[in-house]
Amino acid sequence: MKKILVTGGAGFIGSHLVDALVDRGYSVRVMDALVPQVHGEGATEPKHLPASVEFLRGDVTSVDDWRRALDGIDVVFHDAAEVGVGQSMYEITRYMQANTMGTAVLLELLAAKEYTIEKLIVASSMSIYGEGGYRCATCGPVFPTLRSGAQLSERSWEMQCPTCHEAVGAEPTAETKPLYPTSIYAISKRDQEEMSLSVGRAYGIPTVALRYFNTYGPRQSVSNPYTGVAAIFSSRLLNGHAPLIFEDGLQSRDFTHVSDIVQANLLAMDRDTANYEAFNVGTGRPLTVLDVAQSLIDAMHLDLKPEVVGKFREGDIRHCYADITKAQTLLGYSPRVTFEEGIADLVSWVQSQESADLVPQAVQELEQRGLTR
Ligand code: UD1
Repeated sequence: MKKILVTGGAGFIGSHLVDALVDRGYSVRVMDALVPQVHGEGATEPKHLPASVEFLRGDVTSVDDWRRALDGIDVVFHDAAEVGVGQSMYEITRYMQANTMGTAVLLELLAAKEYTIEKLIVASSMSIYGEGGYRCATCGPVFPTLRSGAQLSERSWEMQCPTCHEAVGAEPTAETKPLYPTSIYAISKRDQEEMSLSVGRAYGIPTVALRYFNTYGPRQSVSNPYTGVAAIFSSRLLNGHAPLIFEDGLQSRDFTHVSDIVQANLLAMDRDTANYEAFNVGTGRPLTVLDVAQSLIDAMHLDLKPEVVGKFREGDIRHCYADITKAQTLLGYSPRVTFEEGIADLVSWVQSQESADLVPQAVQELEQRGLTR
């Protein structure tokens, strides 16, 4: 029977993956640092981990912790990471240490052949694209980078063609789109992906990078104001506060239910066609931030209106949604959970939670550092 290590296995995506692996009868070990920002101060092993799972409290920057974690392991899912995009712009060493250097420690142990594994699956991110793909009516497919300061100060939110400056429309983003990470978090995720694929190829360790799109679902920390927008809005609503919407709310993302992220991970483990490749894991359907806020308000039966603050968050992109053709073809991946079903699932879990609304504090931190305008 395979023995599997999931780093970050106490966290949001990792814990759902652990459940699926345990259901399949694998022997599972989790290494997780139980970061207080996510798990709360003084957190111990989370209750939701199945009893059969071996839990190691460990830090990915520690070679000794990796050694304990890797002993006897056949497959590694590396999902441990610091995940706050805005926060990564001032806690730069923390993010690079955990995400880039943490992966470096793992790869050096694998390169030294101290441990022989069958497969390594790393959590990459759509953030490495920066802006998604666009099409200009005159110039065809184009890849604009970030909007200029001048454009944003006019509160002109939509993207323009980098060549003729006409308005452009968003298109599905394929893996072939040039990478243009716009935050320290995104840079660290690109490092992690490229380092893993490079070392994997060099030493013949089958390695797969999964570029997760905006993941939502139960167990996403509702008290962590640096996490994804669906959890942030849920935390606001649980406290009777309106969601705060940056720009005009019409920016779009590809909201992907955590169970589909798990599906892609299992396929990446099972299929040899996945080896040495990077895949988008999304749904292929764009939704606006305003749609998400309104869907949550409706599902929670609240009498609140999203508050459009009209400000811009430094490093934010306007649109990005996945072209999932490669994952469909090589992995046999097919997203199963519609947004409507996923939101119902999220809300039924959110309503059983208690949450401190720490969003105002996080927004204030961004403001003090000039990271919103
Ligand atoms: C980023 C990363 C993604 C990562 C995710 C969670 C990029 C391009 N992507 O996604 O890889 O998984 O963070 O860490 O960097 N928003 C509001 N109000 C809020 C919070 C957010 O309007 O209170 C808006 C943002 O301005 C943005 C959108 O919602 O336009 C999505 O934000 P967020 O959930 O942070 O995700 P991304 O930035 O897309």
